[in-house]
Amino acid sequence: MSEEKKLFKVTVDNITIDVEPGTTILQAARQIGGDVTPPAMCFYSKLQGSGGKCRTCLVEVSKGSEKDPRPMPKLVASCRTTVMDGMEVKNITSERVQDARAGVVEFLLLNHPLDCPICDQAGECHLQDLGYEHGKEGTRYEFNRRTFEKEDIGPYIQLHMTRCILCYRCTYVADQLTNNRVHGVLDRGDHAEISTYISKAIDNDFSGNMIDVCPVGALTDKTFRFKNRVWFTKPVDAHRDCDKCCGKVTLWERGDEVLRVTARKDEWGEVQSYDGKPGWICNTCRFDKKHVNDWVIEGPTKVNRHSVISQGHYIGLQKPNETISEVMGGRDPKLLMDIHSVSDVNSVELAALPGPATSKTFEKKDQSE
Ligand code: SF4
Ligand code: FES
Repeated sequence: MSEEKKLFKVTVDNITIDVEPGTTILQAARQIGGDVTPPAMCFYSKLQGSGGKCRTCLVEVSKGSEKDPRPMPKLVASCRTTVMDGMEVKNITSERVQDARAGVVEFLLLNHPLDCPICDQAGECHLQDLGYEHGKEGTRYEFNRRTFEKEDIGPYIQLHMTRCILCYRCTYVADQLTNNRVHGVLDRGDHAEISTYISKAIDNDFSGNMIDVCPVGALTDKTFRFKNRVWFTKPVDAHRDCDKCCGKVTLWERGDEVLRVTARKDEWGEVQSYDGKPGWICNTCRFDKKHVNDWVIEGPTKVNRHSVISQGHYIGLQKPNETISEVMGGRDPKLLMDIHSVSDVNSVELAALPGPATSKTFEKKDQSE
């Protein structure tokens, strides 16, 4: 007779479940699901060694275990702390946790620009969600934010280091999915930055997955950048026969056009698993198959109704008529005026700015005139 495995009882925010020994508090909370699950900006269950960097998943352990019921004196990172039998954990029911999380968000935002209006990740950014939940309207930080030049990581990916929160997920993707990692975290402390070694490009078949794991808009898809806001697109599930990857993707469409291809995500924002294996996708599926005919369409992607993306989740779209070409007798509109050539602020000046322009930038210009 096979010996039955002893399960551990763990209680998160007054909800008790049985989990296998070795389960972390975060994974136990995910098994319960819903609001009791702590946010996780650096942990990614499909990437070995991830977690322990960002501190957004802090929880209070109010009872250590049945054998030793003493509470843990400090808040602990739930992605790195395994459960004990009889453990009691507080997440949303703990004021200490809510307060600490607000502090962590404040720290993460010290060097993160609030450029959501022009950032491709807006609408699906975990830091944006966290900022709305725990952020404060002001900052106490008085120093200049760190600024970096934008960098190309290979032909398809752009790195916007100013937005990076150093979660290390992309380096784990490079380590574990590609066999030739040429990028990583250079320097330490407030000099730390993600970069490629000696400007080497990443051309590995699976490098695009770095974009999918990045919780903020630091790594973006160059074939999609600035093409559309994600909430104006229609996500549909599709697949194709691919000899390199699982071929199961989400197509982000606008009308008949496929604007972006990503791996399918689960409710935690991680790539979905199929038969226990993570559904990473290859660069051919992601960057080269941008036509609906390349895919077998399965149907609309299920989007959480609280997500801003669900606003554009429509079925049976009727494309509006292009009025301009109609009134111009079928001719396509032409660019009549280049705004940069007629305005005082030209693109060269804008490109020379070290960071986002503020009213101060233009004050200086006015004074010098
Ligand atoms: S670039 Fe993105 S995935 Fe990589 S460390 Fe920075 S935030 Fe994390
Ligand atoms: S998710 Fe646990 S420390 Fe980042």
